[in-house]
Amino acid sequence: MAAMTTRRILTGDRTTGPLHIGHYAGSLQNRVALQRDYETYVLLADVQALTDNAANPEKVRANVLEVALDYLAVGIDPRVATIVIQSLVPEIAELTVYYLNLVTVARLGRNPTVKEEIRQKGLEGHLPAGFFVYPVSQAADITAFGAHLVPVGADQLPMIEQTVEIVRSFNRTYSPVLVEPEALIPRAARLPGTDGQGKMGKSLGNAIYLSDPAEVVRRKVMGMYTDPDHLRASDPGRVEGNPVFSYLDAFDPDREGLAALKEHYRRGGLGDVTVKRRLAGVLEDLLGPIRARRAEFATDPHEGMAMLRAGTERGRALAPRTLDDVRRAM
Ligand code: TRP
Repeated sequence: MAAMTTRRILTGDRTTGPLHIGHYAGSLQNRVALQRDYETYVLLADVQALTDNAANPEKVRANVLEVALDYLAVGIDPRVATIVIQSLVPEIAELTVYYLNLVTVARLGRNPTVKEEIRQKGLEGHLPAGFFVYPVSQAADITAFGAHLVPVGADQLPMIEQTVEIVRSFNRTYSPVLVEPEALIPRAARLPGTDGQGKMGKSLGNAIYLSDPAEVVRRKVMGMYTDPDHLRASDPGRVEGNPVFSYLDAFDPDREGLAALKEHYRRGGLGDVTVKRRLAGVLEDLLGPIRARRAEFATDPHEGMAMLRAGTERGRALAPRTLDDVRRAM
């Protein structure tokens, strides 16, 4: 039988800062689990990072290596998966220009994640056009690599929907050369911030980073928002909407112990400090080995950059082929 066509993954992160446990639960875990089953490409999205950091290219540049170290630390294996620096794949920019003609301004304005980001970042009134259209450049990222599957956090679903619309429109208008991708989102709900707010975010000061030292993680956990009505240990407490339990749901391997703990908390008689200590332990079990691997890789940044250059060389071969198909089709 002829070899089955390769199934490809493309996913990535903006290089604006270190990755946090929300990224881990949202997409890093899936990437590590699937990297041997799919031809996997992981994009260090430095061009996308510039869409709201144009005045800060140095920050974006510095974080290329930081995010790459996070990848290696969680177990993305550069011998198996290909890590690519976005700014070294100029074909993505050209694809973006063509795709922009297939999308209306009104459609872009309806993207719920972009709307939330505009609010959170306070970009109203001086919104960079590049930021407004970044879902289109993300469609270019995904299609440049001909990706079938895109493992991302739930907040990125609108980007994959936008990509599918562009692919269908392109294939209908010209000829069917683009691959229609599918999102892979985790079963668990998105992790809230340590302050109990909707989203864990770099700009919100409510994140636990994969690279945080053990004492910092412990301090952040002990300061976490819980059930505001759970004033005394003897009071019954609420598990739903309580971020300490959301994190335990995401990371505690002892499911039975966790179920009993929730039961006890609901009944009353269990203090927040006890639950937080358990969470601190669970997170340390997860982050300890990640931190150690990160430190190991970080000792040789030149080696790290050489690995990134090699990955980019390998990975960027796909994009000119897609661009060629696209130009022919048009
Ligand atoms: N927008 C994504 C984020 O903010 C990062 C990203 C850029 C991405 N290009 C991508 C994700 C392509 C998936 C596929 O996290």
